[in-house]
Amino acid sequence: MLRLVVLISGGGSNLRALLERCEDAEFPARVVAVGADRDAAGFAHAEDFGIPAFSVPFTAFPSREAWGEELLVQLEQWAPDLVLLSGLMRLLPAVVVDRWSPRILNTHPAFLPEFPGAHAVRDALAAGVVETGASVIVVDRGVDSGPVLAQERVPVLPGDTAARLHERIKPVERRLLIHTVQRLATGELRLPTPEESP
Ligand code: GAR
Repeated sequence: MLRLVVLISGGGSNLRALLERCEDAEFPARVVAVGADRDAAGFAHAEDFGIPAFSVPFTAFPSREAWGEELLVQLEQWAPDLVLLSGLMRLLPAVVVDRWSPRILNTHPAFLPEFPGAHAVRDALAAGVVETGASVIVVDRGVDSGPVLAQERVPVLPGDTAARLHERIKPVERRLLIHTVQRLATGELRLPTPEESP
């Protein structure tokens, strides 16, 4: 059983999908804790499933590095095999990345390396592309620049708003995330060693 800690910032719909999947006794992973950088709405999902939650409020710390140090303390106590950033809208300081990479994954609502950053869906629409996508990557020190573990295209439809497009991307993200966790747990997929990372 892979032990997962999931970090969120918002509604946590991807987290919820994972929690539902983990209800299946056959699924080879369990969420052991949910963390956030604020009082996230998605904590409600953790509560629904009886999963412990912790908050390390970004604004309560004098620097990103100080925030990261406390996040590390919180993460260590759950002894996760994998840390999943599922809607965490913060760049992690190097101290956290260096401790956890490559065992720290991020879901992203674009077909990386296209449209990295916090506004991937809006940026894809603004660029006028006919397709964007969803990706699951290993977190490295860059912004959405780590090795891609899974990705899939999602078409942009006429009349799409950012909200509408994002709602079509999210189910793809969920499927990719769950499948990636499953493949890692069964050994079908292997995380890149630091030497293999670009
Ligand atoms: C997801 O689409 C996730 O990929 C994105 O935020 C959304 C969170 O949704 N993350 C990023 O854009 C990170 N750069 P959720 O809270 O409903 O799961």
